[in-house]
Amino acid sequence: MIVTIDGPAGAGKSSIAHQVAAQLAFEFLDTGALYRAATLAAIRAQIDLQDTERLSEFVATLKLSWQARTVHLDGEDVSELIRTPEVTASIRYLADVPAVRGQLSQIQRDIAEGRDIVTEGRDQGAEVFPHADCKIFLTASPVERAKRRMRQLADSGRYVSLEDVLSAQNQRDLEDRMRDVGRLRAAEDAVVVNTDGMLPEEVLQQIVSLVRSRI
Ligand code: C5P
Repeated sequence: MIVTIDGPAGAGKSSIAHQVAAQLAFEFLDTGALYRAATLAAIRAQIDLQDTERLSEFVATLKLSWQARTVHLDGEDVSELIRTPEVTASIRYLADVPAVRGQLSQIQRDIAEGRDIVTEGRDQGAEVFPHADCKIFLTASPVERAKRRMRQLADSGRYVSLEDVLSAQNQRDLEDRMRDVGRLRAAEDAVVVNTDGMLPEEVLQQIVSLVRSRI
């Protein structure tokens, strides 16, 4: 069974998708981590990020793997290294290239093959897994998402103003919504869950019940 959870940055997809997977004893896949790892590799190899052809040739040579919430790049665990602002700011160069998206989508399908899995990203229900059994589009208002992100950063000792978080988030939303291929959008048959004013526990239970009703 394939469950897709898509939505904008800061909607809480990762932690909800992970918890849904744990409750159902499904695998969990964070597809953003694959985009991040490919971006890290391109930065390290000093690939010209504007050279789309070179980028897709390069991504084809990468060995990306995902297991138990860790992403490996050519055998190295890069799960922490992919979370830097430098990587985040450069992802769009790869995420905007249709050939790169095709390669990363294929890796995602290979990982999901034959498994019960919850996959999380931007394009999972609409493009990568159009025949998924259950599709969820998780969202919240921009201010609510930015507040959550601000609290997350503060928990890790980084204090950033709401305005700064909001402006970086708006920029990312725009990039995610505007790309020609793989843009952020709810699949027509997705259930939209707006988490404004909901406790994480309530969101979790709503999604788990929905998935159970489709088993
Ligand atoms: O989910 P996360 O914030 O880690 O994703 C990082 C970026 O990777 C997103 O802003 C988006 O540009 C890109 N991405 C994508 N398609 C996905 C997952 C992530 O384009 N399925």
